[in-house]
Amino acid sequence: MTRILLVIVAAAGVAFGQAAIAAGDAAAGKEKAAQCQQCHGPDGNSPTPQFPKIGGQHAKYIVQTLEDYSTGERQEPVMAAFAAALSKQDREDLAAWYASQGGGLYTIEFND
Ligand code: HEC
Repeated sequence: MTRILLVIVAAAGVAFGQAAIAAGDAAAGKEKAAQCQQCHGPDGNSPTPQFPKIGGQHAKYIVQTLEDYSTGERQEPVMAAFAAALSKQDREDLAAWYASQGGGLYTIEFND
């Protein structure tokens, strides 16, 4: 019985974890991404090597990166300015949009 309860608790934990990651709304993110297009391309597949490809990147990575630019944990003046204007919801929506895009970026599978 205890074992069954543990499995249920573990499964609930996984479900909550996924809900937290899927908090972004890709449709809203697409609209918010209009300001990012000039550098990262319409779907995150930047046309030039000057700007990194972010289409198909893991949502969690994008959320964390945008947060790091805004706090200064990762320093780069252009992105710092854009990231500073984003709310937590903006970061999650943008991440959901870019993560849902395919493209030339190679990412490894990972389970979180
Ligand atoms: C004026 C050009 C420009 C615009 C507009 C821009 N970016 Fe960037 N972005 C860059 C550059 C340059 C870098 C690389 C910075 C570095 O070296 O850390 C970057 C890096 C990133 C990264 C990290 C990529 C990686 O692989 O680590 C993310 C995520 C990102 N941008 C998202 C966005 C989002 C979301 C927006 C719109 C809110 C946006 N960018 C708007 C130029 C831009």
